[in-house]
Amino acid sequence: MENYKTVSESQTTMTELMIPSYSNFGGKIHGGIILSLMDKAAYACAAKHAGTYCVTASIDTVDFRASVEVGEIISLLASINYVGNSSMVVGIKVLAEKIKTREIKHTNSSYFTMVAMDEQQHSPVQVPGLILEDEVQIQRFVAAMRRKDLNQHYKEESRQLKSICQNGEILDALKKERCLIHPKTT
Ligand SMILES: CC(C)(COP(=O)(O)OP(=O)(O)OC[C@H]1O[C@@H](n2cnc3c(N)ncnc32)[C@H](O)[C@@H]1OP(=O)(O)O)[C@@H](O)C(=O)NCCC(=O)NCCS
Repeated sequence: MENYKTVSESQTTMTELMIPSYSNFGGKIHGGIILSLMDKAAYACAAKHAGTYCVTASIDTVDFRASVEVGEIISLLASINYVGNSSMVVGIKVLAEKIKTREIKHTNSSYFTMVAMDEQQHSPVQVPGLILEDEVQIQRFVAAMRRKDLNQHYKEESRQLKSICQNGEILDALKKERCLIHPKTT
């Protein structure tokens, strides 16, 4: 029988103290540090579900909703939202807590697509299916399917961009933008 696992079997929470060496010139926590921690949490969650080594195939948009300060504790909540054949979409939510006031803010969310690899790390391998146990898990699975379709559509549109850019209507639309078309004379 095909192998299935529940979402809770791989749900992962990572906690990290924001130390001064993580800060940027403005004194806030560097966005790259947060992204790296999100990738780590996505890896841990995906590897638990797959039971194999995994790689990051793509990362959805990451909005920085609020800055994170030195001294805050961040928690990264990761759970499998969707599984394909070898790919898994891991939803990540980042919360930052001020130690003194216990105030919690939601700073980032994103979706990481992770792919399970064989032992030689050469080819993708099948991952267990997902048991959806409640409405939220069903809704997340369906939303991930929808985003996959939209991403495919967006990639196809991007491929056609070169010919679209030669279209006169688009060049007219550029007149309303803050740019000048001014070819270099060499
Ligand atoms: C991700 C990777 C393994 C895919 O390999 P591939 O030869 O394209 O394999 P496939 O076409 O069989 O795709 C495997 C799965 O990945 C998914 N996938 C591949 N590229 C993807 C992308 N850019 N976004 C989302 N999913 C992707 C496919 O849809 C497929 O999913 P499914 O098995 O659930 O249907 C390969 O591109 C790779 O090794 N990339 C580098 C990864 C890396 O170095 N990451 C950073 C450090 S971990």
